[in-house]
Amino acid sequence: MVWRSILLLSMINLLLLFSSPPLRAEAASTSTVRPEFARKGALTCMKCHDDAAITQILLTPHAVKGDADTPFGQHDCESCHGASPEHVHSRPPEGALRDPPTVRFSGPHPSSLAERNAVCLGCHENGQAIHWTGSKHANNEVACTACHTVHIQKDPVLVRDRQATVCFSCHTEQRAQSFKPSHHPVREGKVICSDCHNPHGTGQDMMLVKDRINDTCYKCHAEKRGPFLFEHAPVREDCTLCHNPHGSTKPALLTLGVPWLCQECHDGGTHAGNPYNASKIFGNTLVAPAPQAMARGCLNCHLQIHGSNNPSAPFFTR
Ligand code: HEC
Ligand code: HEC
Ligand code: HEC
Ligand code: HEC
Ligand code: HEC
Ligand code: HEC
Ligand code: HEC
Ligand code: HEC
Ligand code: HEC
Ligand code: HEC
Repeated sequence: MVWRSILLLSMINLLLLFSSPPLRAEAASTSTVRPEFARKGALTCMKCHDDAAITQILLTPHAVKGDADTPFGQHDCESCHGASPEHVHSRPPEGALRDPPTVRFSGPHPSSLAERNAVCLGCHENGQAIHWTGSKHANNEVACTACHTVHIQKDPVLVRDRQATVCFSCHTEQRAQSFKPSHHPVREGKVICSDCHNPHGTGQDMMLVKDRINDTCYKCHAEKRGPFLFEHAPVREDCTLCHNPHGSTKPALLTLGVPWLCQECHDGGTHAGNPYNASKIFGNTLVAPAPQAMARGCLNCHLQIHGSNNPSAPFFTR
């Protein structure tokens, strides 16, 4: 508790230090400044709101007094909560609530979604959130603050090993997939949702960070990009024809086990579609069960399933 009050005191001092020039300027021309904002900015609010759960915001990039682009370079708390003189000067009768501040992001009577998002977009619509309008999240009425927490030193959704927890609160299917035996190490923070998705929308399908699914995967799996001497058509087309990026009970994130995966596309009279008859490969001798179905199945022989650069391996066997 002691460190908290020391921290708070030093933060207030800092604020005083930085806020004194504008305060003096205000005093010099009282009638021309916009009177609705609290004269002493954050200090006015923090007379009552001095809890660390609120004042931690002073330790974030939003609280750079010297930067006129940040809320604290403008009207402090009221850059987000709106000018709130009624709230500050409220004299509620015993037991009643004060008049609320103009913009409320939480609590029993939050402002409308449009109002809340407009505050954030007022400063951010040209950065990360440039594709926000029309994105899946915007269209489904997700608030900026459904993911972002601003009254905290480190916003969890921006911390690699904490981000997934935020997304999982709504995306329970992806959460379940992340517990399957084969999964990208998302919960561990090594590969995170925002490595593949920009949750503010991108103008691409599924809010992917790159134009195509494959380009998203090549960011980290560059060796699968090729070009190969012998290309496997589905690999060039779309990695998710065979892989589920969020998790699978099959090895290597495969959507189906081998040989069934392969047989979705390869059948007919050849060994590809007939794993219990090996005669096509081993002359006239019938071997049962056939090697196609044993151990790694088709992959026993078709080792380079993503494509081969060996001139004598048009069938991806090496
Ligand atoms: C005189 C004390 C006082 C001052 C000054 C004050 N508040 Fe409050 N504020 C409260 C109290 C008390 C509550 C809790 C609601 C209630 O009991 O009326 C509250 C609630 C809030 C809430 C939550 C509203 C909700 O519906 O959940 C916000 C946001 C808020 N204040 C922001 C501010 C801002 C911004 C300032 C400065 C411009 C400010 N307050 C100044 C006492 C104050
Ligand atoms: C960048 C915009 C922003 C600024 C600046 C800001 N707030 Fe908030 N405030 C929010 C959001 C968003 C919430 C909802 C909870 C959250 O995301 O942390 C909130 C919630 C609150 C609450 C309600 C907390 C609760 O338990 O429901 C109070 C009180 C409050 N703010 C006071 C302040 C005070 C005092 C300041 C200035 C020191 C301030 N806010 C500055 C955006 C802001
Ligand atoms: C008055 C302008 C302004 C408002 C209003 C504002 N921001 Fe910011 N915000 C900034 C600036 C400036 C930065 C620091 C530079 C940057 O990262 O873009 C920042 C930084 C951030 C960051 C990065 C924080 C970090 O820890 O790296 C997030 C996330 C963010 N804002 C979200 C929000 C959300 C959500 C809201 C609405 C509740 C909001 N902002 C309201 C100006 C604003
Ligand atoms: C579905 C969750 C989600 C929603 C909704 C959301 N964000 Fe974000 N935001 C994120 C994630 C995740 C990141 C980190 C992205 C990255 O690292 O590439 C981020 C990053 C940011 C950043 C940059 C932080 C930095 O410094 O890198 C800003 C600014 C920001 N968001 C503002 C907003 C605004 C404004 C809104 C509402 C219009 C919003 N966000 C809605 C999840 C969300
Ligand atoms: C390795 C890249 C990657 C990562 C990491 C990733 N995704 Fe995806 N996600 C994709 C691709 C590619 C698609 C589209 C193809 C598909 O649905 O399989 C997708 C689709 C989705 C969809 C739409 C599913 C549908 O069927 O409509 C949601 C929701 C989603 N991802 C959420 C998440 C969340 C939440 C996380 C983090 C826990 C996450 N993703 C991590 C690549 C990724
Ligand atoms: C407040 C709930 C909520 C949170 C938190 C949330 N989402 Fe979503 N998300 C939705 C809704 C609602 C949809 C649209 C319906 C659907 O496809 O499930 C959606 C859709 C998506 C889609 C599919 C986009 C498309 O074009 O079909 C992706 C990808 C996604 N979210 C990623 C994320 C990521 C990454 C995070 C965390 C950074 C996240 N979401 C956090 C509610 C949320
Ligand atoms: C941000 C980097 C990154 C991106 C983007 C990425 N991956 Fe991965 N991927 C990894 C890492 C790291 C591993 C290794 C995980 C391990 O060793 O447990 C991995 C492992 C895999 C595996 C093997 C899993 C296993 O259980 O053996 C497959 C398959 C895979 N990724 C497919 C994809 C696909 C498909 C995409 C595109 C939708 C993609 N990856 C995008 C980083 C990434
Ligand atoms: C035709 C189905 C198919 C397609 C399409 C496919 N893969 Fe695979 N992938 C597999 C199979 C089968 C394995 C298991 C290989 C093994 O166990 O030797 C695998 C394994 C992997 C692995 C883990 C082992 C390794 O080779 O590193 C990664 C990573 C991977 N694939 C990435 C990708 C990427 C990225 C794409 C898209 C460019 C892609 N795959 C497209 C079938 C496919
Ligand atoms: C999504 C469909 C799809 C899946 C799944 C698939 N393939 Fe293919 N595969 C193709 C297509 C299309 C070609 C190109 C056929 C052509 O050029 O006639 C091809 C070509 C091949 C070839 C070269 C044949 C030739 O005639 O050039 C081999 C060998 C092969 N695949 C093996 C496999 C194996 C083994 C698996 C399972 C791990 C598999 N494929 C999974 C669609 C698929
Ligand atoms: C014992 C090694 C071996 C196994 C196991 C094997 N293949 Fe083959 N496959 C080959 C060889 C060698 C060729 C080259 C053409 C030939 O000799 O028939 C080939 C050719 C192919 C071709 C292209 C020619 C054709 O016959 O259509 C496809 C497609 C194919 N394999 C798919 C599969 C699938 C799917 C499986 C699993 C069910 C599989 N293979 C299992 C060795 C094998």
